[in-house]
Amino acid sequence: MIDHEIKISFREYTSIEELDQADQQLCHEAVKALETSHSPYSKFKVGVAMQLRSGKILHASNQENAAYPSGLCAERVALFNWGANHADDPIETMAITAHTDEFQLTKPVTSCGACLQVLAEYEKKQGSAIKMLLYCRQGPVWVATGVESFLPFLFFEDRLTNKNR
Ligand code: THU
Repeated sequence: MIDHEIKISFREYTSIEELDQADQQLCHEAVKALETSHSPYSKFKVGVAMQLRSGKILHASNQENAAYPSGLCAERVALFNWGANHADDPIETMAITAHTDEFQLTKPVTSCGACLQVLAEYEKKQGSAIKMLLYCRQGPVWVATGVESFLPFLFFEDRLTNKNR
């Protein structure tokens, strides 16, 4: 019997002012993206801004649907747009924020497993890790680079081959 332990780490900033200018700006861009959220069912808005290597910023937000499972999280809206339209321009940083009028959020939103799995795919495709800024306006900012900081047991593509046996 072997017990394994996996350590993950992230950095917490008590406020956005502790980030460098570019990261602060990207967090503000994620807040702007909240305006396009289509979330009449959950009333929970999620906004994403992605900084690409060229300097271009892509915005996205969660898009819900009356047939609930047809909706999509903001992160995957952002990532699939990148995959379809900007895949030659690597993603350097992704800022994510959330807002609801129902209560006050005091901790950053962490992405769901499905979004992290998609993120893993594109980190692999572009050959570099993405810096994640999880920005809570009434709380801390959490920062980590690389999807494995959030999803150490993601599904690796090498499991689809027999290389690993
Ligand atoms: N949502 C996101 O967009 N990203 C996350 O990281 C978590 C959840 C959305 C999905 C749904 O529209 C709403 O938030 C409530 O789950």
